[in-house]
Amino acid sequence: MKYDAVMAALRSYVAEGGKPASIFLLPEGGMHEIYDCIVSNRLRACLELGSGFGATSCVMGAAAAETGGKVVTVDLALHWPANASTLKAHVGIGSELEVVADPLGYNWYLADLISKQTVNGVCQPLFDLCFLDGAHEWQPDALALVLAVKLLKPGGWFVLDDLDFKLRSMPTWKESHGHLSDRELDTYQIGMVWNLVARQHPELTAFKETESGRIGWARKMVQPTSRGLLSRLLGP
Ligand SMILES: C[S@@+](CC[C@H](N)C(=O)[O-])C[C@H]1O[C@@H](n2cnc3c(N)ncnc32)[C@H](O)[C@@H]1O
Repeated sequence: MKYDAVMAALRSYVAEGGKPASIFLLPEGGMHEIYDCIVSNRLRACLELGSGFGATSCVMGAAAAETGGKVVTVDLALHWPANASTLKAHVGIGSELEVVADPLGYNWYLADLISKQTVNGVCQPLFDLCFLDGAHEWQPDALALVLAVKLLKPGGWFVLDDLDFKLRSMPTWKESHGHLSDRELDTYQIGMVWNLVARQHPELTAFKETESGRIGWARKMVQPTSRGLLSRLLGP
């Protein structure tokens, strides 16, 4: 399905109760970039961690329909007024988008997948692209990055949204995150994941930031560099 067609279908979505739903949680430029990356590189296996209302899931699914590929999107639950399942049906996307709701979250889902993919103690990678846009917190998302990179094929893309986001900037932060410390509320936690984990990961390279520094892109090395290999063998 072409980009303009999936976007037109998503914009025409009307939620239960008749209100046009505000389903877009990623800037249009970010969705377009992900779509173009999947189609122009003929990617066949993609993962989204954090489906939200499912708009980007559908854009990725539409791109996968162009390449004969498949996308898996994982969230804690199916949200209202829309989720990846309802939007997928509305847009007319089929088996190229698999929607997973796992109440334990993506890190447990990834643990099961790594366990299934482990042969002789080594994880066999599965995905060409992983888009992480989930908890927006240091602890779950630093782990999610490390687990997802294990499942990424050499040359695969890792995309991270919200490098410039802090929890206190949400209008509903008191209800959702009011129990956290000032440090947790006022830190750019995904920026921490990007600078302290992604940018220093021995298997990631080709870093770039788009959407005015909001979205981070990296690629898994085809061959780990000698620096990466040596530091793994000898320590820092
Ligand atoms: C910003 S939204 C995702 C937006 C979506 N990627 C898009 O582009 O439209 C973040 C989502 O991550 C989900 N989430 C948060 N923590 C999670 C976890 N540990 N496991 C799975 N999903 C999680 C939330 O339920 C929420 O739906």
